[in-house]
Amino acid sequence: MIKVAVMGYGTIGSGVVEVLNINKSNIAKRAKDEVEVKYVLDLRDFPGDPMEKKIVHDYKTILEDPEVEIVVETMGGVEPAYTFVKAMLEAGKHVTTSNKALVAAKGAELIALAKEKNVNFMFEASVGGGIPIIRPLNSCLTADEIEEITGIVNGTTNYMMTKMAEQGAEFDDVLKDAQDMGYAEKDPTADIEGYDSCRKIAILTSLVCGQQVDYEDIHTEGITKITATDIRYAKAMNRKIKLLATSKKVEDGYVAMVAPFLLPPAHPLYNVNDVFNAIFVHGNVLGDAMFYGSGAGKLPTASAVVADIVDMAKHRNVNVAVEWSSKKMELVDYKKSENKFFVRANASKDEVEALFGNVTFVEAEGVENEVGFVTGVMKEADFEAKKEQLAEVLNVIRVTD
Ligand code: HSE
Repeated sequence: MIKVAVMGYGTIGSGVVEVLNINKSNIAKRAKDEVEVKYVLDLRDFPGDPMEKKIVHDYKTILEDPEVEIVVETMGGVEPAYTFVKAMLEAGKHVTTSNKALVAAKGAELIALAKEKNVNFMFEASVGGGIPIIRPLNSCLTADEIEEITGIVNGTTNYMMTKMAEQGAEFDDVLKDAQDMGYAEKDPTADIEGYDSCRKIAILTSLVCGQQVDYEDIHTEGITKITATDIRYAKAMNRKIKLLATSKKVEDGYVAMVAPFLLPPAHPLYNVNDVFNAIFVHGNVLGDAMFYGSGAGKLPTASAVVADIVDMAKHRNVNVAVEWSSKKMELVDYKKSENKFFVRANASKDEVEALFGNVTFVEAEGVENEVGFVTGVMKEADFEAKKEQLAEVLNVIRVTD
C-alpha cells in the first residue's frame, strides 16, 4: 500500500481524490501497489464528505508520519505551499504539485532538494492542465535542441477570445460570462493580465534551457485592451486573436514573451478554441509537434497529478533527473526581437506611410474615423520609437504567420 497525503482540498485536490477512486484498480496495476489517501490537509472541515475523517489542519501531522511516502500539493500560491513542500522533501517524501506559481518561483531549488534526498518533485499539472508537456520535455524530446515553444496555456483567456470572436461581444461581457461559467476567478487579474501564462512559459523555458528563467524577466501583455473593434479587424484580415506564450531560441539565447497575436488559419494554434490549451514545440531534429487538450479544470488537472503519483510510485527509491539548475538564464531583451504589428490609430494614411513606409491598410466593417494597418517585419524597439510619433494610437496587436 502506498500512502498519500493531499494538501489543499479545493477543486484540484478533491479531483485527485476522485481520480484515485474512479480508476483505483488501473492505478494500482500501473503503480504496482494500491494507492490510499491517508490525510487531506485543509483549513476547513468537510462534514459529510467521504474524506471527512481524514482531514487534518496541521501539515506536521503529514510531515511526521513516516507511512506517508507521497504528498500532493494543490493549495496554490507560493506560501505556505513552499514551506510545506520543502519540509516534505527534506523529510524524504516525494511531492507532486499542480501549482505553477510555486514551480515558477522555486522549481530549481525544489528539484535540487529532491535530488539531494533521493526523492522526486514532479509538476506535470502545473502547465497545460491534463496535457502531457512537462514529461515529454523532460523525457521524450531529449534528442532535440528545442528551438521554439509557443502555446495557448490559459483556458480562461482562450475562452474569452473565442467568445469575443464568435459573438462580436465586448471584453467586459465575455469576462462576466467566463466568471458565470466558473472559468474565470472572481479576481481574474492573473489570467487576463497574462501573469498565469507568463509563469507557465517561464517553467517551459527553464526546462528547455535547463536553467532558471525568472518570470519577472518575461515581457507580458494580457488581453484587457482587446475590444470588439479589434475583433472586427481580425475578421477583415481572416485572422483570430489569441493570447500566446512564446519562447524562441535566437542567436544569443532565448527570447520569451506573453502577448495577444493575430493568427492566420494556417497557424497550428488557430483552431484551439474555448478552454482548450495547446503547446506547439519545434525541435531542430524533430521538426514540429503539438500537444493539445484540456488545459484546466478539476479532473483533467487531477489526471496529471495522479500520473505523477504513479510515476513516483514506480520510482520510490530513484530520483528521476530533471535538468533545471538554479543558474539564472539571462533572456535576450524582447525589444531586439522582430515582429509584424497591426496598429489602429487616429492618423492619416499619409502620416502612417511617412513613418512606417510600405504598410497594408485594413478596412473593417462598421469602423470609421480611424486607420488600421499592418507593418512589415521590424524590430520591437524600432516599432516602439515610430509608434511614439503617431498622434493617437488606439491599439497594437502583433501579427504572426
Ligand atoms: N486559470 C488557469 C486557466 C487555470 O484558465 O488556464 C489552469 O492553470
